[in-house]
Amino acid sequence: MIKFIIQGGKPIGGEIAVGGAKNEAIKLIPAALLSNSPVIVRNMPDIEDCKRCLELFQDLGGTVEHTGEEVILTAPAEIKTTLEPKFANKLRASIMFVAPMLARSGKAVFPHPGGCVIGAGIRPIDLFTDGFASMGVDIDFSDGLYHLSTKKLKACNYFFTTVSVTGTESMMMAATMAEGTTTLKNCAMEPEIQALAEHLNNCGARITGAGTPTITIEGVTGLAGAPVSVIPDRLETGTFAILAAAARAKLKITRCHPGHLDSLLTIFKKMGIIFETGPDWIQMISYPEKIPAYNLKTHEYPGFPTDLQSPFTVLMTQAHGTSLIHETIYERRLLFTDMLTQMGANITMCDPHRVVIQGPTPLHGRSLTSPDLRAGISMIIAGAIASGKTEIDNIYQIERGYEQIDTRLRAIGVDIVRSE
Ligand code: EPZ
Repeated sequence: MIKFIIQGGKPIGGEIAVGGAKNEAIKLIPAALLSNSPVIVRNMPDIEDCKRCLELFQDLGGTVEHTGEEVILTAPAEIKTTLEPKFANKLRASIMFVAPMLARSGKAVFPHPGGCVIGAGIRPIDLFTDGFASMGVDIDFSDGLYHLSTKKLKACNYFFTTVSVTGTESMMMAATMAEGTTTLKNCAMEPEIQALAEHLNNCGARITGAGTPTITIEGVTGLAGAPVSVIPDRLETGTFAILAAAARAKLKITRCHPGHLDSLLTIFKKMGIIFETGPDWIQMISYPEKIPAYNLKTHEYPGFPTDLQSPFTVLMTQAHGTSLIHETIYERRLLFTDMLTQMGANITMCDPHRVVIQGPTPLHGRSLTSPDLRAGISMIIAGAIASGKTEIDNIYQIERGYEQIDTRLRAIGVDIVRSE
């Protein structure tokens, strides 16, 4: 079993560059199935989730070329319309391939997507199936597989009863080549959605309103390919900024987009954390003697992202006073706080969505298992500020979303090694 081993308490500083956004890159890959000529992707992060999506793209008949800085994706003339369980069971985002399949061939067969332990048990996909049904898709579930079919996707008016990032992106993709004009309401507004819409429009789609709650898509007959550069990963940026705060480090974060982190940076200002920002960098400067406790509530973008809740929870174990963390999006995302308690944190779980943290408490290293991507990186942050040694196994869950994370953290002073 490969592990990360961290010796805590080492001084952190210097400069770290941010990679391309995982949650845009793994949508650009299925979206390339919509284009009838090559899509050239730059700044794609070299992470497990992207590798899985590229494997799935090839399994469906697509071709993938790596040329140094670029990944060139070419869709097949005939697309395979079955998502193999070996891929779909590993990757929740495999569901993003269904909309392009329906748009290109009118057919899709797939299992319930697996791969992500957060959320209630098996994460629901009702927003996807209801959305496709609104576009005239017949849906049957038999022998453990969803069977979807339609002669031609039809435009629809669709209201998301729950704000969903991938639900919004999926319906946006499906509507690009549907007959007529589709209106999507109560959409998610993440920057990755705006970036995907911009790319699809560069390919010839007619999407307006991405980044607002209402998106309108006028169907076109086909999409060409276009070059696209993946936007900086705001979650990696926020994770590094929170690591710096937890370690009281003077750290410069480069190749990022500070404007995508208003929620975190505004809270930092309220807490008295001093930093400067430029067009593509954040310089963490100094911290109050006593980092104050803060009551956090996660919220869809532009609110505080659920994907930064776990790192922020680690920071609150070092804050002075009582903090309430209210995770509004997922039922199980706070379960990892058990491990922080084992490291010495004082955390009480009130219900599946809320914990109360009494700080500050010194943390001591432990052997831990990473349950999900963001909890995993949070354990690295905890290990980096704890006394003694922390071992983290199941690091696939971390390498899914953070490219060469041990190498990059070592370069800013974290004593972390990858060992068999
Ligand atoms: C995206 O997941 C991100 N993943 C998640 O990041 C992120 O945490 C999440 O959005 C929220 O911001 C990708 O973009 C690949 P949702 P997504 O659909 O779209 C419920 C990470 O760590 N729901 O917005 O799958 C669902 O249960 C990952 O990078 C339904 O009820 O999340 C949840 O409570 C983790 N029915 C809520 O919506 C559905 O059909 C929001 O989930 C779909 C979702």
